[in-house]
Amino acid sequence: MTGPRIPIAPDGRLLFGGDYNPEQWPEEVWTEDVRLVKEAGVTSVTLGVFSWAKLEPRPGAREFGWLDRLMDLMHAHGIGVVLATPTSAPPPWLGRLHPETLPRDENGQTVWWGSRQQFAHSSSVYRRFAAAITEDLAQRYGHHPALRMWHINNEYCTFDYGDEAARAFRDWLRRRYRTLDAVNEAWGTAFWSQHVETWEDVIPPRRAQYMRNPTQVLDFRRFTSDALLECFVAERDIVRRHSPAHIPVTTNFMPFWTGQDAWTWARQEDVVSVDMYPDPRDPLGGQYNAMIGDMTRGQAGGAPWMVMEQAAGPVNWRGVNHPKPHGLNRLWSLQSVARGADAICYFQWRQSRQGAEKFHSGMVDHAGEEGRVFAEVKRIGAELALLEGEVAGTGVTADVAVLHDWESWWAGSQDGRPSTHVVYEDVVRTWHRGLWEAGLTADFAHPEHDLSGYRVVVVPQLYLLSDAAVDNLLAYARGGGSVVCGFFSGVADSDDRVRAGGMDARLRELFGIRTVHEWWPLDPGQTVDCGEFTGSLWSEELTAAPDAEVVAAYRGGELDGLPAVLRRGSARYLSTLPEPSALRTLLADVAAEAGVRPPLSGLPAGVEAVRRGDVLFLLHHGTGDVVVELPSDEGPLRDLLTGTEHSGSVPLGRYGVVALRAARGGDRAA
Ligand code: GAL
Repeated sequence: MTGPRIPIAPDGRLLFGGDYNPEQWPEEVWTEDVRLVKEAGVTSVTLGVFSWAKLEPRPGAREFGWLDRLMDLMHAHGIGVVLATPTSAPPPWLGRLHPETLPRDENGQTVWWGSRQQFAHSSSVYRRFAAAITEDLAQRYGHHPALRMWHINNEYCTFDYGDEAARAFRDWLRRRYRTLDAVNEAWGTAFWSQHVETWEDVIPPRRAQYMRNPTQVLDFRRFTSDALLECFVAERDIVRRHSPAHIPVTTNFMPFWTGQDAWTWARQEDVVSVDMYPDPRDPLGGQYNAMIGDMTRGQAGGAPWMVMEQAAGPVNWRGVNHPKPHGLNRLWSLQSVARGADAICYFQWRQSRQGAEKFHSGMVDHAGEEGRVFAEVKRIGAELALLEGEVAGTGVTADVAVLHDWESWWAGSQDGRPSTHVVYEDVVRTWHRGLWEAGLTADFAHPEHDLSGYRVVVVPQLYLLSDAAVDNLLAYARGGGSVVCGFFSGVADSDDRVRAGGMDARLRELFGIRTVHEWWPLDPGQTVDCGEFTGSLWSEELTAAPDAEVVAAYRGGELDGLPAVLRRGSARYLSTLPEPSALRTLLADVAAEAGVRPPLSGLPAGVEAVRRGDVLFLLHHGTGDVVVELPSDEGPLRDLLTGTEHSGSVPLGRYGVVALRAARGGDRAA
């Protein structure tokens, strides 16, 4: 566990609902909403996410009447409320009267009101107004019987390069380094005459003539994540002061988003929540959804987590916004439950008719209750009610950990590196895909987390590894764990300084690498022949230590005969990115050797098996019909969604899902 966790479902009921923006609608519509909410089995709605101007139309004014009526209305109908602080959407008057609350971009341009999230995180005026509205909101509703959870702000994501941010950045640096000498040392300012002589010389990495100092950029990213986190913590502490201890506090992460170090953030939350928007047209959208689930579960320390937002149909921010084909919303919702979610929520309840998101779907879309989207939403609501008694509060067992770290991502994604075609997110996703296709359930973990509970640790790419992380990995390997590590890892220390020899010496020893001579990144579309497979993106000129085994070697070209995959004991290093089928096979072999068994083997392509608590979920990501063989040593298994008992095998149709557990004497017949 990474922090104190408060159950999402203390009453054993999974949360099902969505952002409700009733201020966009006349009150007559609220009555219809209540009817439909109940029809859909929605258990909670999120109120107030962007309601600051409605609550405080003028500085210091308070208009709570409409929210009083809504809170009471929800309570009267047994609907819970996830209540948001409105601080991600300051009203226009705040920017007009206090321009210093508006962030500046890298070019010094003001980010104006007219959209949302136009707040300067380090502005003391912004923080004062945000605290004041939060205080009054919390005081008024902290003990309201409808309140289920606090939702702070929304998708914290602003960067600010303005003067107040510059001062806060200096304070942050003083705390981290204490002296300017230490800043100069860490940033390597001997390069290009960047020596800072006074604290006033230190500025955010604003637009500059050419490539900026990479450690300055890295520290600015660390600072920005921490500054936003301070905003969260300030509001969290206010709402906690006014509410009973069983009301959890969360803020919703964007999935796998670069701006926030979610490992650090998650430790400050009672519930970890995330927004999930896979592209319905992506043939691997299900794998992406699984990856975000695994990552969020990791951040929650294995505790149940929350899908705060997903789309019931199309979003409106891609180039082409495709609806979800029939059944896909259900499949991905149940997949999240299978991977540990105790809450399935959407953006948003009712599709808007005005504003920038009027073409973004809702649970009730423009077609209304007659629409296909609402029919599927009702089905999901009914099915969650069938599952909750069996799964709420339970965990997912994973023997494999995927290491991921924001600091490494930030450091490794900057200008001036060997290849701009190596995109960290894509590399991580490719490795997760290998595990997913091999049927292996994986948690995500931070490189300094305790890894002793895992049999296999996978490092897709950690360019930057702190000394503590290297120690951790070595201790894990010494304890008998298997490590599989991808290229361009262990290169830099926490200051983004390249380690002597091009890669940490102890890691080189672990993997049996004698010398790293040069990296040979590949062009888009270029591949290297590695014998049994081809590699892409990257290759390396390295030599093996005498006791290392060359599992695969490059054939032809400049690197002919040099190791593509190297192994020493149960540690392996891949100096290229194997094609997906080869990566899948390699990971499956490593897992088998380490004694890790997938929840079910021999699955047809596109079928995912995950075990949560006592329930085995089978999820079919394809549109044809398939038959899944069930383990012969288990008795009849009951599908909790239909009540049907299955022995020997189970058929799955288009986007089919079954949730199986051992049949018990007391089960009612289907
Ligand atoms: C999220 C955001 C929501 C809504 C949604 C649309 O990023 O939190 O408010 O804008 O995207 O997909």
